[in-house]
Amino acid sequence: MKAVVDPDKCIGCGLCAQVAPEVYKMEGDKAVAAANIAGALVDIARSGAEQCPVEAITVS
Ligand code: F3S
Repeated sequence: MKAVVDPDKCIGCGLCAQVAPEVYKMEGDKAVAAANIAGALVDIARSGAEQCPVEAITVS
């Protein structure tokens, strides 16, 4: 599985990194996601994605 942050959509609110720091971190004013996720990290990644106000994150 993979979580991807669309840098064109991300407005840098930081919620994903707050909710799911295991998967997302801020680099400057954009979030980046861990390259590969599995197991419990998938649910954590989805939790972070749900918080994003601009739906910049896809988990698939
Ligand atoms: Fe960006 Fe959304 Fe995270 S705006 S910082 S991807 S919650």
